[in-house]
Amino acid sequence: MVHTISLASSTSRSYELRAADGGALPSFEAGAHIDVHLGPSLVRQYSLCNSPREKGRYLICVRRDDAGRGGSRTLHRDLTVGRRLRISPPRNHFPLVAAGHHVLVAGGIGITPVLSMAEALAARGASFVLHHYTSSAAEAPLLERLQSSALGERAVVHHSDQGDTVRAGLPAELQVPEADTAVYVCGPDGFMTHVVAEATAAGWHPGQLHTERFAPTAPPSAEAEAEAGDGDGDRDRDRDGAKAGVAAEFTVRIASTGTGYRVPADRTIAEVLTAHGVEVELSCEQGICGACLTPVLAGEPDHRDEVQTPDERAAGDRITICCSRARSPELLLGL
Ligand code: FES
Repeated sequence: MVHTISLASSTSRSYELRAADGGALPSFEAGAHIDVHLGPSLVRQYSLCNSPREKGRYLICVRRDDAGRGGSRTLHRDLTVGRRLRISPPRNHFPLVAAGHHVLVAGGIGITPVLSMAEALAARGASFVLHHYTSSAAEAPLLERLQSSALGERAVVHHSDQGDTVRAGLPAELQVPEADTAVYVCGPDGFMTHVVAEATAAGWHPGQLHTERFAPTAPPSAEAEAEAGDGDGDRDRDRDGAKAGVAAEFTVRIASTGTGYRVPADRTIAEVLTAHGVEVELSCEQGICGACLTPVLAGEPDHRDEVQTPDERAAGDRITICCSRARSPELLLGL
């Protein structure tokens, strides 16, 4: 149930969600997100931005994006205090890892999971610094909360309307790779692409760079936009980004029944299985939430998601059936 709503910036609102019966909510790790069901076929994922130590509430922050597909507009328009909502338990594909130092880099509304991670790191006395890139102070989501808390001492805020953008250069902590340091990047697609590319060029090992995307990676032809402030905090961009690439037919076989299904070039595995009455779990259908990760028992996946790490992709033992495909003629799925 929506317990309180507050302004988080000139364009963003924070929504505090509590159980309708006042009971406990499932615990979550820093970096986690939930599905929010906004209508019969309108499900969006939002990162939790409060401290994981808070047991009785979830806090999400949503920037209104009039150019988006409508999730944030619907949410800003329809969510009122007292409204009951259907949500999923928290899922986390952006966890904190063991490291001696942590560098958190957020662009715009990408601050949401990063703020929760900073809260968790501060609570355990870990060493970290947080950089938040925004278009302006007025549009910086959760700026007041960041600066009025103890986290403010570890945070550096950058506003592009003052000429302080990530295009002008990476934060000092990223300019030279450091051992035993983990870097976390979350924000609009162009922002993330730029930060990761620059950090990689500076010599950071890919295994040190951890990312959380709010939308599938744009197709290669799309112009990267590295200014922060885009996006609305949900994961609702056109799914074509996740499906970009050459598609070919292949077969998926269900291990429990032995039945095989042909997946044409213009259908996803999930679409084919659902059409044949096979129950699958779906949420974002863009390869960015991990709800549909399915065991692969044989065959070689063609990964097109943004959820799995390079090591997980290389292992090839799970596949996001909403967008990924097959390099081998057949995949045997653990369903
Ligand atoms: S449904 Fe979200 S990754 Fe497949």
